[in-house]
Amino acid sequence: MTQRTLSIIKPDATQRNLQGAILKMIQDAGLKIVAMKMITLTRNQAEGFYAVHKERPFFDSLTQFMCSGPVVVSVLEGENAITRYREVMGATNPANADEGTIRKAFALDIEKNSVHGSDAPDTAATEIAYFFNQLEITG
Ligand code: CMP
Repeated sequence: MTQRTLSIIKPDATQRNLQGAILKMIQDAGLKIVAMKMITLTRNQAEGFYAVHKERPFFDSLTQFMCSGPVVVSVLEGENAITRYREVMGATNPANADEGTIRKAFALDIEKNSVHGSDAPDTAATEIAYFFNQLEITG
C-alpha cells in the first residue's frame, strides 16, 4: 500500500547542518520526497502542530525547542511509508534506538531527537495538511 507521511527535521539537526545526511538516510530507505520546505515555526505554529501533547509536562519545552531554529518539513511517499519511516527514525528516546536509525546516529536526547514522523494514517493526513496544500505536493 502506497502511503504518505510527514517528516520534520528538527532544529537540533538543522543547527548541526545534518539536513543532507538525514535526507540521504530517508532516500536510501526507498522513501520518495514529494514535497519539502525549510521554515522557522512560530510558537503558535509549534503549539498547533503538537496540540495533542498539550497536557504533557514536556509541552512548553518541546514547543519552545521546535521554534528555536529552522525545520525541514517534507512529505514522504512509499510502500507503507508511515511504518517504514518510523523504522528509519528509530525509537523516540535515542537511548532505545536501534543501530542504523536516524535517532541512534544523530539524536541528542528524548526531546532533541532530530526528526518527527507521523504515527498513523489519520495523523499523517492532518500533519501533511498542516504544512502543505495540494498544489505543493508533487507526484
Ligand atoms: P515526536 O516524534 O516529534 O513527538 C512528540 C515529541 O515530544 C517527541 O518527538 C519528542 O521530541 C518530545 N517528547 C516525547 N516524550 C518526551 C519526554 N518524555 N520528554 C521530553 N520530550 C519528549
